[in-house]
Amino acid sequence: MATSRWWLYVQAVFWRFLMRLGMIFHNIPHPRPPSPNFSRSFPSGSSKVVLQFYCPPDYSRNRKEGRRLPVVVNFHGGGFTLGGPSDDSRWAQAVISDVGAVVVSVGYRRAPEHPFPAAVDDGVLTLQYLASHAAELGLDVSRIALSGFSAGGNLAVTVPLRLRDLIVQAEHERWLSRADSTHQLVAVTASDLHIVALFCWYPILDFDEPREHRRAMSIMPNKTLPSFFTDLFDESYVPDLEQRRSPYASPVHATDEALRDSLPHDIFFYMCEWDMLLNEGQVFCRRLQDTNKHVRAMMVEKARHAWDKSANPFRNTTEVNILYKDACADMKAIFEK
Ligand SMILES: *[C@@H]1O[C@H](CO)[C@@H](O)[C@H](O)[C@H]1NC(C)=O
Ligand SMILES: *[C@@H]1O[C@H](CO)[C@@H](O)[C@H](O)[C@H]1NC(C)=O
Ligand SMILES: *[C@@H]1O[C@H](CO)[C@@H](O)[C@H](O)[C@H]1NC(C)=O
Repeated sequence: MATSRWWLYVQAVFWRFLMRLGMIFHNIPHPRPPSPNFSRSFPSGSSKVVLQFYCPPDYSRNRKEGRRLPVVVNFHGGGFTLGGPSDDSRWAQAVISDVGAVVVSVGYRRAPEHPFPAAVDDGVLTLQYLASHAAELGLDVSRIALSGFSAGGNLAVTVPLRLRDLIVQAEHERWLSRADSTHQLVAVTASDLHIVALFCWYPILDFDEPREHRRAMSIMPNKTLPSFFTDLFDESYVPDLEQRRSPYASPVHATDEALRDSLPHDIFFYMCEWDMLLNEGQVFCRRLQDTNKHVRAMMVEKARHAWDKSANPFRNTTEVNILYKDACADMKAIFEK
């Protein structure tokens, strides 16, 4: 059953190439989405993490005058295997124009070269990087929203879970007075960080439940992602079946206490009716509501997984824009609270 890592890598390279072509067509309809204003990177493992910054028009003036802007840290989709940080540039456009926040889109390490938990670790490192460079970048890290699409929607949930556990662990070790330097870094830089909201678009939340079962349970099984993708993604990212139950891979396995303590009060879910991930999303939303989170769960009718991304340059973008604007209005209200 286990596919060789080499063969997974060959498939990943092939689909990454096709997805890049698809994104070129995705970006054709007007208004054209922005390019990032600048990038930063930092080393992670044997590789590096690239952060792409999309800035609202008044960013430079605010920065000069010492005013800091709220931040949206965004995680792209592609099954942890494909895709890149510029895939969500249309979402970034909506945020910079309607919210006036800086969007930082994360080029986390991808599988199969870097399996779980590389992407989650890179998300945590990104938050630490932003906290320690906040003044220089003009960022108000006491107002951070996390957003993500598909695999990225998973990271928007698992990164805060992991961050909180690292902070608790660092405090414990300091108490035992044998803290090592990396854990100290977590504690120091995480103290000013405040995640105020999550915006999860059609996230994957459970790697443990077999895909065949989820596909069969779906309203439109033959409109779900085909198995050559889901097998590639699952085997690339979490080849170890034991690890699929980790809450950092499958946040449905996090305890109520962990969810309550690590996630912000305001959580927004946008799910697709024809997606095999609809059910786990709805069940997870109910659990979050039971832990007293303020959850807004929306289902886009007659939509496939990743309905907002399409390589058809003649598609009608009206409905996607309406939902993006709606999300931005909610985000703006939270930042201004
Ligand atoms: C960011 O880049 C866009 C073009 O993509 C440009 O119009 C805008 O002025 C830039 N913003 C800043 C603050 O440099
Ligand atoms: C999709 O599945 C339905 C049954 O669930 C079937 O009737 C239909 O022919 C299938 N469509 C395609 C394009 O395979
Ligand atoms: C696009 O869709 C919207 C609503 O879904 C509709 O009002 C509009 O006329 C459509 N535009 C075109 C060019 O088809």
